[in-house]
Amino acid sequence: MLAGKRILLIVAGGIAAYKTPDLVRHLRERGAVVRCVLTDGGAQFVTPLTLGAVSEDKVYDSLFSLTDEHEMGHINLSRQADALLVAPATANMLAKIAQGLADDLATTLLLATDKPVLVAPAMNVRMWGHPATQANIDTLAGRGVTVIGPNEGDMACGEYGMGRMSEPLEIAAAIENFFAANGRLTGSRALVTSGPTYEPIDPVRYIANRSSGKQGHAIAEALMRLGTKTTLVTGPTQQPDPPGVQVVHVESARQMLVACEAALPAEIAVCAAAVADWRVDTQTDQKLKKNTGAPPPPLMMTENPDILQTLSNAKNTRPGLVVGFAAETENVIANAQAKLARKGCDWIVANDVSPNTETFAGDANTVHLVTADSVEDWPRLSKAEVGERLADRIADALEAGHG
Ligand code: CTP
Repeated sequence: MLAGKRILLIVAGGIAAYKTPDLVRHLRERGAVVRCVLTDGGAQFVTPLTLGAVSEDKVYDSLFSLTDEHEMGHINLSRQADALLVAPATANMLAKIAQGLADDLATTLLLATDKPVLVAPAMNVRMWGHPATQANIDTLAGRGVTVIGPNEGDMACGEYGMGRMSEPLEIAAAIENFFAANGRLTGSRALVTSGPTYEPIDPVRYIANRSSGKQGHAIAEALMRLGTKTTLVTGPTQQPDPPGVQVVHVESARQMLVACEAALPAEIAVCAAAVADWRVDTQTDQKLKKNTGAPPPPLMMTENPDILQTLSNAKNTRPGLVVGFAAETENVIANAQAKLARKGCDWIVANDVSPNTETFAGDANTVHLVTADSVEDWPRLSKAEVGERLADRIADALEAGHG
């Protein structure tokens, strides 16, 4: 998600510096190349050896090292980055950046750079609340610096409040969002459904299906990475919430419809959820008891709302591009074409979910993109790749004026 992005991480002198090796790891896991700069204060909390090991690069820590200046001047250090990230950004560091001080390598780099700067503040609650710090934050935000966090919580000093540095995963997600904000779909909104629905029988039992949510989650993530403000409405799954995506957890089809309607307006809707067609009409408030010998209780079913069809036919709030899925076990294309016409959506992503394809639980998918006048057969791809390809096709369509 951050493939090839070069991040210069400046670690200042706060206790939260102990979290930065983890932050480096998360950024690198996402494909970023991370180079670290350590202030003198930062070096009190985390060693160059640790940051060097996790970044697999030299750690820069002194403005006056002749070898460093010879090999890599401070201007070059920031020139060779796509963004500068200050984490933790202490009150002192924020004040220096706001004032344009340049008394060490870190602050010199920050003054010399023309690259985007992101800061993750970390300090005591009173220092954060102090008008001086707040004025500095306003100044920096006014100059286009992106401020990540801070969070509210327990502090190393024993107090409680705002000022805890955002967790490494949150910072990594914010960086992804930052890069995604320059993406092809920036400024648009997307709604994605994912996972199964659970339809209750009684307070402890329910009817469900085998959807893993992998495909829907991958689509939401891919759309987010292109810069779309994405809401993912998901039934119960084992999938983690994709960072950077607004996730709404639901159980039943009716809850899913309510959550989808609340997420409108959106320019893009992708319905990848395996919504139960029926729910139990005879749902009870108390657990059904087994009366040995007596016949089992009959389950009466009633039809669920069709979310894809509802969104496709919404009068004022219809998303410009509505994409459905067709889970089929036979006549895949013909059934998908019929579904496209019946539901009133723009595209159908058709896939064969016969047990031998292992589509439901697996990581790969073979799909066909069916539109009103064409059928595209895609090769077998990972679900992540299907998500990326679909997001790219959606971006093409929006750029061409669809929606
Ligand atoms: N869908 C929906 N709401 C429902 C049922 C389905 O939004 N109550 C959506 C799915 O998310 C998918 C598409 O409709 O995008 C097709 O789902 P599928 O289960 O393949 O089709 P059904 O309409 O249920 O038809 P059938 O089960 O007869 O194939």
